[in-house]
Amino acid sequence: MTGLAIMNNKGGVAKTITSVNLAYALSRRNIKTLLVDMDGQANATSNLGGIKEGEPTIYDVLFRSTTIVDAIKETQYDKLYLLPSSDEFLSASAILRQEELVPPQMYLRHAIKGDLDDFTFVIYDCPPSLDVLTANVLNVADYVIIPSLAADSSIQGILRVLNAMKKANLIRMIGIKLMGVLLTRAKERLLVTQHNIEQIRTLDVPLFRTYIRDTTRVAQSESMHMPVMAYDPSCSASKDYAALCEEVLQFLVGGI
Ligand SMILES: Nc1ncnc2c1ncn2[C@@H]1O[C@H](COP(=O)(O)OP(=O)(O)OP(=O)(O)O)[C@@H](O)[C@H]1O
Ligand SMILES: [Mg+2]
Repeated sequence: MTGLAIMNNKGGVAKTITSVNLAYALSRRNIKTLLVDMDGQANATSNLGGIKEGEPTIYDVLFRSTTIVDAIKETQYDKLYLLPSSDEFLSASAILRQEELVPPQMYLRHAIKGDLDDFTFVIYDCPPSLDVLTANVLNVADYVIIPSLAADSSIQGILRVLNAMKKANLIRMIGIKLMGVLLTRAKERLLVTQHNIEQIRTLDVPLFRTYIRDTTRVAQSESMHMPVMAYDPSCSASKDYAALCEEVLQFLVGGI
């Protein structure tokens, strides 16, 4: 099992769209994949069709006695599974911060135990913050992917994630690694400015060859509660996410 955390404390950089479509693309390759929605906004859950009243969520797994296996649901797509979230989970960080007995950054690890080994990939859609909830993901994932807006030359968000990874690695036996920065919402090829890429290069971090183009098809797919790759497989973003999936698999060749 390989755990991928899609992380950036900046909001609206396409963490959720990337999580959902990378998970979907892997499942289309016949690879058993679980998407874990770690965000109380529950956009990934909604993008994969939502949940019915009373269905268990990540909240029940972390704070009630539901086992992780019982909370995982099948989606309408073969090989793609979801551990959903709901707005109840918006209080998760506050609850964890009040914890006095169990290390608050270890809840997810305790909940998972070895129970996700059946999945080839587990993808964590993180909330736009680098707090104790994100620390829980940094304690269980193997790699981080940092989506970053193609038009935004600010590297602050990337630096913050790198710093959080460094801290998490102080208590990990095998460190979490950066797979790469992913440029998202690129308006046109030319607008992915060399300047922005140069800025990222100064950090000496890997940058995915693939970047994700901006298309109105993404918002449309969200309103249909579908991954854009399922909604319109031939649009630019769908092709880009398919290419990203190949790049991720190539990166891991020999590792899975
Ligand atoms: N390739 C794209 N083309 C057009 N719009 C996009 C694309 N990717 C994402 N978006 C839009 O950008 C917005 C933010 O995307 P998304 O929800 O994935 O970001 P996020 O980083 O998960 O946000 P948050 O920090 O709130 O969790 C959404 O409205 C989505 O429709
Ligand atoms: Mg999101």
